[in-house]
Amino acid sequence: MSEELACLDGSTAPAAETTIPVTDEGFLRGDGAFEVIRVYDGQPFALDEHFERMERSAANLRLPAPFPRKSYEREIPALLEARGGAGFDGCLRLVFTREGRRLAITEQAKLMEERVRLGFVTFAPTRVLDGVKSLSYAANMLCSRLARERGFDEALLVTPHGRVLEGPTSSLFWVDGSGTLCTPPLEDHILASITRAHLLNLVDVTERPVTTEELLGAQEAFMASTVREVQPVAAIEDREFGETGEMTRKVAAAFSAHVDDVLGRR
Ligand SMILES: Cc1ncc(COP(=O)(O)O)c(C=O)c1O
Repeated sequence: MSEELACLDGSTAPAAETTIPVTDEGFLRGDGAFEVIRVYDGQPFALDEHFERMERSAANLRLPAPFPRKSYEREIPALLEARGGAGFDGCLRLVFTREGRRLAITEQAKLMEERVRLGFVTFAPTRVLDGVKSLSYAANMLCSRLARERGFDEALLVTPHGRVLEGPTSSLFWVDGSGTLCTPPLEDHILASITRAHLLNLVDVTERPVTTEELLGAQEAFMASTVREVQPVAAIEDREFGETGEMTRKVAAAFSAHVDDVLGRR
């Protein structure tokens, strides 16, 4: 495996040797913004949309302005080239901290379960962080751990009133009793996921809230994110979904063809 690299304020070095001062409140308080971008054969996917979301996050968090998009745009191609160019299939993590530090880190793509088993975890989104992908992800990470402690692969976040929201790092889609593909609305205070937005453009999807009870009666379900792409759900709590359904397979194929189209790979 080639070494992961980090570009901190324009200087590139092995990621494991790159350090930021302990006084940076991005570290001390999770006060900063981040993005994870999928890189296919050296090409970042949906980079502009990730910059736009990160710029919104930075503005909403009142991070130092202006957001350094131009510096990132200058540095990222060189970083990806140094990491292996077309030979690099993985992720790019961008971090912008309270102190104005600008980081870009290459990461190996995580190995995801082919089909995910989900357990409900009660969660109340922090309203003031609507529209912000902040570094404060401890609650999301804890939800994953709580679900794993109960024997599941991942958490499915549910409000105290029983509305199902999303995964800690992914969006939820399900096929309802009438065969309609659905996903929760952004008004439910979920992240404006970039994969979700692409899927809404690619296939017919109805945005509507869902209760735990209705979801357990769904025909199919899948999770979607930059890292997971379209990941079939095998089970939610003790509801087994059986073989991956036709809609999930169709959407997974459409998304992967779309990535190839956008990146000019076919
Ligand atoms: C809470 C949450 N929902 C959904 C997603 C999926 O977003 P995207 O498709 O932009 O990766 C993420 C990604 O990290 C997330 O953290």
